[in-house]
Amino acid sequence: MNESRDWFKTAVFYQIWVRSFKDGNGDGIGDLYGVYDKLEYLQSLGVNAIWFSPLYPSPNADYGYDISDYCNIHPEYGDLDQFQKVLDRAHELGIRVIMDLVVNHTSDEHPWFVESRKSGDNPYSDYYIWRDKPNNWSSVLEGKAWEYDESRGQYYLHLFARKQPDLNMDNPKVREEVKKILRFWLEMGVDGFREDVINFISKKEGLPNSLGILPIIGEMRYYKDGPHIHEYMQEFRDVCNEYNAVQIGEGPMTTVSSALKYLTGRRKSLDMMFSFDHMTADCLFTEYLHLPFKLVRLKKAFSKWQYSLEGKAWNTLYLENHDHPRVISRYGSEKHHRESGTMLATAYLFLKGTPFIYQGQEIGMTNIRLSSIDQYKDVSSKNNFYTYHLKDSIESRLHRIHLSSRDSSRTPVQWDGSRNAGFSEGDPWFTVNPNYVSVNVAKQDAEADSILNYYRQCIRIRQSSPALLFGEYREYYHGDPNFYVYSRSLDGETYLIICSFARERLPVILPKQFRGIRCRLILTNYPREREQGREYDLHSPGFRLYPYEAMVLRIS
Ligand code: GLC
Ligand code: CA
Repeated sequence: MNESRDWFKTAVFYQIWVRSFKDGNGDGIGDLYGVYDKLEYLQSLGVNAIWFSPLYPSPNADYGYDISDYCNIHPEYGDLDQFQKVLDRAHELGIRVIMDLVVNHTSDEHPWFVESRKSGDNPYSDYYIWRDKPNNWSSVLEGKAWEYDESRGQYYLHLFARKQPDLNMDNPKVREEVKKILRFWLEMGVDGFREDVINFISKKEGLPNSLGILPIIGEMRYYKDGPHIHEYMQEFRDVCNEYNAVQIGEGPMTTVSSALKYLTGRRKSLDMMFSFDHMTADCLFTEYLHLPFKLVRLKKAFSKWQYSLEGKAWNTLYLENHDHPRVISRYGSEKHHRESGTMLATAYLFLKGTPFIYQGQEIGMTNIRLSSIDQYKDVSSKNNFYTYHLKDSIESRLHRIHLSSRDSSRTPVQWDGSRNAGFSEGDPWFTVNPNYVSVNVAKQDAEADSILNYYRQCIRIRQSSPALLFGEYREYYHGDPNFYVYSRSLDGETYLIICSFARERLPVILPKQFRGIRCRLILTNYPREREQGREYDLHSPGFRLYPYEAMVLRIS
């Protein structure tokens, strides 16, 4: 399906974390049979591409991000034939498919590591990073970054969990393995890759000790955007170019200037990069410290990336994925569920870039609140609970997990109001959010003004307007703590997007340049209150926005 790689600029992606998407064979675990059955649903949403979080065999220490076989499908999710069926059917429906490429590390159960740990002189010895003495780095997911291995008598580096040893990308054989993996999936017909923590794969020689006081942050400079990263990325790009495949990098802690090095120039090794700035409008390092949500922080992050990439590179747009709690619970309000869910959709779906929707986001799924840490599954939540703020009470530590856990995005998708939310006929592998009775796909499909139907509308409007796809971004009233106001313009056509993040009705003061100009209302999340298509004078006295109201206007 890959005539031109530029398809990604007009696409809307949907991310599937398969384990919780839809169980097709009744064992309580989401799988590719379930995905196959839901492809028409995805088409009805208007999405043009799927990103699959890892589907490969994995001991699930980090739910798929610890891979033990790169060229296969986890038996719990199906097999290669079933994957091919899903891929072919998706293509028939006009939906492209990208895979998750996780090559900073493997599982410790991967045959390469099984061999590597045996001795210092076998063909796999240098596939990983071994040292006689550890340095002082901490891992992102679980304790210190080094683990002693009895059989080899050395320590191996793991920037993530203990069961995720880091590959030694400086070894040319490892890079050849990566290229084989790329080719394997590209030959099957996939359209590209989302590349996990890809800015971490080249480490500074000698792995120096961190001088920083804060764990992780101090040492990151020794492995983020490391010395050979762009050479290695170029090797992978060359393979992907043969297939015209799209490459999207995940860039934890990436800055605009370092992202541009991947996204521009002759080297241009990535088509897009996931940045994280806008995911910290209510926290410091997601799970470490929770802060009250500040709209100004969110706007600052959005605008920084919108302005800095203009004319140079292409943005990714997202509010949720499998690593973050649900956005309504963070930046919106569970009390104003429909209003804030639809407003948040408006706030990001009309920015410039390629939107990603995470499973369940389109119906406004919210965080779960489990009563003990043992009920959480995620290695990172457990680590966080047992590592940070140990002097706080158990309740307050649990509260922090409730606010920050990645598990909130990993509960089963709520398909309908029947048992287990229609996710599975067996016992689901993980808790179903009890709000499924009121928040589910079937119900929202039938309600004209639901969050689901609003997403559909947004996607349709976005896809049919060159100004909304390619127009320049401009933000207004940057310092305002309640409203997010921006415009998108192209060839004399301008759209104005106004989002209220306030819980009460407030007057909005609109940009001066729009004074006296008439606007046509294209979309609002208060459908019964205003007629769409009507003309507005936004400066008429008493013009106030409802709580969490959103409007898309065309300036005529
Ligand atoms: C990425 C993934 C996350 C995983 C980590 C290690 O950030 O999105 O889920 O834990 O990499 O692979
Ligand atoms: Ca299953």
